[in-house]
Amino acid sequence: MKILVVGSGGREHALGWKLKQSPLVSEVISAPGNPGLAELGRTVPIKAEDTRELAAFAMREQVGLVVIGPEAAAAAGLADALSQVGVPCFGPSKAAAELEASKAFMKEFCFRHGVPTAEYKVFDDAIRAKAYLGDREPPFVIKADGLAGGKGVVIAETRRDADAAIDEILFLRKFGTAGQRIVIEDFLPGEEASFFALCDGETAIPLVAAQDHKRAYDGDKGPNTGGMGAYSPAPVFTDAVRDQTMERIILPTLRGMKAEGRPFVGVLFAGLMITPEGPKLIEFNVRFGDPECQTLMRRLKSDLAPVLLAAAKGELAAAAPLEWDPRPAVTVVYAAQGYPDEPLTGSVIRGLADASLVPDVEVFHAGTRLDEDGTLRAAGGRVLNVTAVGETLKDAIGSAYDAVRRVDWPGGFCRSDIGWRALSL
Ligand code: AMP
Ligand code: GLY
Repeated sequence: MKILVVGSGGREHALGWKLKQSPLVSEVISAPGNPGLAELGRTVPIKAEDTRELAAFAMREQVGLVVIGPEAAAAAGLADALSQVGVPCFGPSKAAAELEASKAFMKEFCFRHGVPTAEYKVFDDAIRAKAYLGDREPPFVIKADGLAGGKGVVIAETRRDADAAIDEILFLRKFGTAGQRIVIEDFLPGEEASFFALCDGETAIPLVAAQDHKRAYDGDKGPNTGGMGAYSPAPVFTDAVRDQTMERIILPTLRGMKAEGRPFVGVLFAGLMITPEGPKLIEFNVRFGDPECQTLMRRLKSDLAPVLLAAAKGELAAAAPLEWDPRPAVTVVYAAQGYPDEPLTGSVIRGLADASLVPDVEVFHAGTRLDEDGTLRAAGGRVLNVTAVGETLKDAIGSAYDAVRRVDWPGGFCRSDIGWRALSL
């Protein structure tokens, strides 16, 4: 079958790379794709949110499965458009994507269904929001309600910073319309992990967990980003924690979404805080994490195509169990100078072929473009994802940074300490 991967980042390149290895897949097409995906198959210049064009294309090409990468495509209703034309789709409907698209919806849903998460309140009024903080203890957690690319969260240590964050979101509209409302919630102490489950509306299959580094600079300093690197497995995510996460978070969510008429199909990504009382939900995402997905794809041994198709068709209960490489995998994000605030695009990148020669390394494209003469340039904030597997996490990290050093890109930067938390255990 032909598979259409929707999106243009490193997550989509990794999914395409894995799907291309399937004997069931004749072609991996991507829309709009990127130069890495272009090495795997055709790219078509249709934007991920252009649901009508994508549905028409999928029908015309007799695509056997569409895989939705980014939340924006799901929130725009791509799965709904595909369902109307009868093309199987791995990804949630617009109504199910609310779990990520609105933090207020997600929080209310969790309280309706007993999913453990931090206490919270929603505000559209800055004065009330600030008054509410008066009775609370720092640190204060302040979030834009809508989609903000992982950047719409402020953890403020002081009242002054918290008040400033409220003003920035509600008045100055730092995150645009995503900041029409804010959510203020209790701070959860603990260590974070990202966990993923494939869902078909009724059945969920656990994948493995990963940890990412959200801050821009070494030592987990600097502004929040979409993620500067990731590794899997996550040492805090023991089998017991996985079972608790399935029982207390994933399965009640799947049942609740079905009961509320929004059955969830696709990958449910639980951003978790592993607290002394067990895992608590920080946020849901309705798609694979980026860059967590890249590490997962490096560890998955089973064929990805049949299990995504089974999820799309509501047939996960009969799917074969997934096999994983026990070896750890790591992803180092190579970002453009200035990311996350104002990434400088257009700089020339050389040396990728040389970097890919390092054993056990794959370099995925995240935000690149190719000139007609073959020059590769930075075209986004997060630009390359250097991934490696190794016998130990230390080996994997060593290989990834070996490859990073072979990339010749003065316009880029990366953290030098991806995986440090796991290494220091
Ligand atoms: P989110 O976009 O909701 O995942 O939040 C981004 C980051 O902010 C998370 O990865 C956490 O590091 C942090 N964070 C969000 N909510 C909380 C919370 N209630 N307690 C502690 N840290 C949080
Ligand atoms: N790396 C976190 C995310 O994809 O939201």
